[in-house]
Amino acid sequence: MNWRTKTLDQILATAEEKALHRSLGGFQLMMLGVGAIIGTGIFVLTAEAAQKAGPGMMVSFIIAGSVCAVTALCYAELASMVPVSGSAYTYSYAVLGEIVAWLVGWALILEYAVAASAVSVGWSNYFVGSVERFFNLDFPDLFSKGPHVGGIMNVPAAVIALAVTGLLILGTRESARVNAVLVSIKVVALTVFCILAVPVINGANFEPFSPNGFLGEISGMGIAGAAASIFFAYVGFDAVSTAAEETRDPQRNVPFGLIGSLAICTIFYVLVAAGAIGSIGAQPIFNPDTGLAYEPGTRELADACMNTHNAEQLACSGEPLALVMDAIGYKTISGLISLAAFLALPSVILMMLFGQTRIFFVMARDKLLPFNELLTRIHPKYHTPHVVTIITGLAVTVFASFFPVGVLADISNSGTLFAFMAVALGVLILRVKDPDRPRPFRTPIVWVMAPLALAGCAFLFFSLPFRTQLTFFGWAAIGLVIYFLYGYRNSPVGREVARQANK
Ligand code: ALA
Repeated sequence: MNWRTKTLDQILATAEEKALHRSLGGFQLMMLGVGAIIGTGIFVLTAEAAQKAGPGMMVSFIIAGSVCAVTALCYAELASMVPVSGSAYTYSYAVLGEIVAWLVGWALILEYAVAASAVSVGWSNYFVGSVERFFNLDFPDLFSKGPHVGGIMNVPAAVIALAVTGLLILGTRESARVNAVLVSIKVVALTVFCILAVPVINGANFEPFSPNGFLGEISGMGIAGAAASIFFAYVGFDAVSTAAEETRDPQRNVPFGLIGSLAICTIFYVLVAAGAIGSIGAQPIFNPDTGLAYEPGTRELADACMNTHNAEQLACSGEPLALVMDAIGYKTISGLISLAAFLALPSVILMMLFGQTRIFFVMARDKLLPFNELLTRIHPKYHTPHVVTIITGLAVTVFASFFPVGVLADISNSGTLFAFMAVALGVLILRVKDPDRPRPFRTPIVWVMAPLALAGCAFLFFSLPFRTQLTFFGWAAIGLVIYFLYGYRNSPVGREVARQANK
């Protein structure tokens, strides 16, 4: 019963019924990819990675990037075969069955919506930094931090989440144009960072290389824990595939957008990490009583970072890239990097929200979500799914207002890794079940790549902090209850199964 699937042809036909407008080209798609990928991960979470792994975070960046590379190859095959909205959710529906598809869609909510919240919080760090730097103002902590780290509500994060929601309601095309400008700003900022930081690398700053070990003594720490967190920096390339239905010539453009954007970002990250570690060092802050590094996102670490001795450490910074520039003597550039992050991170929020609304839209179109008629409404003037956009935007705003960035990023990663595993499995199953269907893009040596993607994602998932893994399983359990209460009875695929059984 739970293995009921929707054939690929059914999926393509449903998409025709309530079609979104195909307006995006290949380059625009790659720009959307880079826009979705470079963000809070590199601009903010580099500090958390330093706290978890020390200079060994270089290895964490490489591990996370490699897992994404093999997964991107699997995504590209499925996205080129099924160029409709919905990404991993849609592919799972065709291959793994409705219940798995539901779980994947449900996990993608963590990926996209929670990621949008995380990036909003990361943006808030740079916003506050910019305001303080340029206007010499002291922005009150009470209104720029969530309750876990000593504030009441993160107001800037809430405001940006709402603003981006408004932009999305106005339309994809306009949003993509704004996005292209913002992506350029981000790329220039990272390029300048590399040009200035890489030449002053001092080999001594890489010692000791792995102060917390590979696995770490506390769950979620060490090089593996940092890889699982910094994986967030790469998330977003898959958002390209959620735009497949709005893309011209998707067979060619989707794989191009996916793999191209991931490749560009990986090169940047490795250089930026090397520059940051090599120029100012990246040792974690240790608890003198236990001798262990503090966990990021905790009150204890926040307190230890108040200590002037630690305040200038990479691991303590909310704007690590600006800190590095400051520390090596480029005060103006530091301000400009902060400004670039401030201007450009909203493009990431935009892409995450975009992905989320499209996934909700497709799940509602499949009648797996309650109020699906309402949710699939398209705005008469802007031609965008405005109802799902508003609902998603409000949820993102609430999370961004009250939770720390690292916690949100880890939760988002748990959902993403689950969805990635479904994609890697799906590509293999389809090769067996439907070998003759045209594949405009074929994953090279798929029987090596897909198992590697599966193993890599599982490894990263179990390297997340234990509480994050539990949160994920709790979320999945809630999802299953909703599925059996609503989607199971109402989806057209389910109704068809019931009708056949009653004949
Ligand atoms: N990869 C995106 C970021 O780092 C989600 O912000």
